[in-house]
Amino acid sequence: MANHQNQGLDPGAAIPFAPFLTTSHGVLYQKDCLEVLAAMRSEIVDCVFADPPFNIGKDYKNGFNDRVRENQYYEWCKSWIYECCRVIKPGGSFFLYALPELAVRFAGFLNERMDFRHWIALSMKGTFPRGRKLYPAHYALLYYTRGTPATFNRVRLPVPVCRHCRKELKDYGGHRDKLNPAGLNLSDFWDDTSPNRHKKFKVRPGVNELKLIVPERALLISTNPGDLVFDPFGGGGSTYQAAENLHRNWIGTELFDCHHIQRRLEDGYPLSLIQKPGFSVKDCFYTNEDHKNEVLRRIA
Ligand SMILES: C[S@@+](CC[C@H](N)C(=O)[O-])C[C@H]1O[C@@H](n2cnc3c(N)ncnc32)[C@H](O)[C@@H]1O
Repeated sequence: MANHQNQGLDPGAAIPFAPFLTTSHGVLYQKDCLEVLAAMRSEIVDCVFADPPFNIGKDYKNGFNDRVRENQYYEWCKSWIYECCRVIKPGGSFFLYALPELAVRFAGFLNERMDFRHWIALSMKGTFPRGRKLYPAHYALLYYTRGTPATFNRVRLPVPVCRHCRKELKDYGGHRDKLNPAGLNLSDFWDDTSPNRHKKFKVRPGVNELKLIVPERALLISTNPGDLVFDPFGGGGSTYQAAENLHRNWIGTELFDCHHIQRRLEDGYPLSLIQKPGFSVKDCFYTNEDHKNEVLRRIA
């Protein structure tokens, strides 16, 4: 099973905490993401994927207070967004999933540090309009890069067919034969990503978690096998599972209960759970001396 010791980490490193688990690809800390980020070196991560709490009073079944003063929430978001930007390599990417009204604020923070690529609209079913508003039918997945993307893989989707008769839904204006045999280009509108609502499909019953396809697509677009992914908000662990599936390395944090993530990884990957990640975790963190210098550099 996963390792619960401080294995693979240099005792001289500044990280004063042990991982909750490690796999052959990743390491998970049961910690506040800001605490872990503070110990992480700059420019070491190829991709950040973040699905934060939305401050809407959701019950995460773990004691997390998902309703604080608006100012306090945005100040906190600014801190982790800036920190995530800091650890991303030049050419690396940041995917940030949020309600549209939060995403516009987050985009303001991201615009200061990174370059906008896409506002991906993810169709959201089963919502209802509140007050004098339109029917909310999408969530946003912001996609930013630090300069020109180091990696941009074109993701293709199968041609959609009728789920009853299996016939193709469109005739492509008579140009069906011109379509790429590998499938359709992924657009910035994703219609097949509504969250799993049925509890039998969930890792953490009663709590929304992303469909695996969401982090998987983000990683497919922006990373290659062996690249390093960071997700500060573990939740049910969908990003870590996506990274395992796609042979990306990963660092994760989750403030509360991590046993769901552990179970998910164990169910899916009994053979991949070995004692030590295949990348140097200690190189991702400051040593004590480096850390002192870095703090001095930042406040100079
Ligand atoms: C929306 S959920 C993430 C869901 C996840 N993407 C999934 O698909 O399962 C947000 C998670 O962030 C965690 N969280 C909240 N504050 C945190 C913090 N400061 N550091 C780390 N995790 C935190 C919450 O406990 C919650 O599980």
